[in-house]
Amino acid sequence: MNIIGIDIGGSGIKGAPVDTGAGTLFAERLRLPTPAPSTPDAVAGAIRQILENFPATPGPVGITFPGVVKSGRVLTAANIDPVWAGFEAATFFSAKLGRVCTVLNDADAAGMAEMRFGAGRGIKGVVILITLGTGIGSAVFLDGKLLPNTELGHMEIRGKDAEARASERVREEKDLGWPEWAERVGEVLARYAFLFNPDLFIIGGGVSRKADKFLPVVQGMVKVPVVPAQLQNQAGLVGAALVAAGGPPAA
Ligand code: BGC
Repeated sequence: MNIIGIDIGGSGIKGAPVDTGAGTLFAERLRLPTPAPSTPDAVAGAIRQILENFPATPGPVGITFPGVVKSGRVLTAANIDPVWAGFEAATFFSAKLGRVCTVLNDADAAGMAEMRFGAGRGIKGVVILITLGTGIGSAVFLDGKLLPNTELGHMEIRGKDAEARASERVREEKDLGWPEWAERVGEVLARYAFLFNPDLFIIGGGVSRKADKFLPVVQGMVKVPVVPAQLQNQAGLVGAALVAAGGPPAA
């Protein structure tokens, strides 16, 4: 199927028509800056622009959100306007855009795409995908089935949220060198490994393109295999389109 996937992030809103059978994009994605303030109306306006850019793809729309989302309702909003917390996002977007909109957590969407088409394909056991971006997102799978809305980025490490120590945003803002940042990421993953004993970690987010700069250090600190995401930062919108196309992928 050809379905538009939209990825709402802390700094950008991206969208593209997705071939949900292949996990690829039918056209180059469009990225708009996340409006400031990122209120529902402003975000819906940006999504409308993206939809208008792909007139050949009508029909349902899959949308990721950087917070906990249950049955289309946003419960938390750490890195986006707090007005979203408690907001019926799927109902709102569907009414505003005149399309059936499905809304889910961004890391869960990325994880589903990686399990179906990327680094997690065919992997049984416990797989944890971690996205390193504005925040830290997590998606936990057992035999390919998602445990939705885990929030490992908010686990406390050295008295702070893990994402306040080791997100990609922190690396940029504090101008950390790769080895120093890699040690922070490694410490976070080692804690997750201790508590969850996964079989595989997949690292997503835009920074997964630069895996060679930090993954060797991270791998040295974590006994579980750590691999970069294969769909890189397209995973979110591919996963969103997959879910909009009819539910999460089979294991
Ligand atoms: C949010 C998560 C989200 C992650 C990545 C965290 O701050 O709480 O829900 O998946 O950022 O955007």
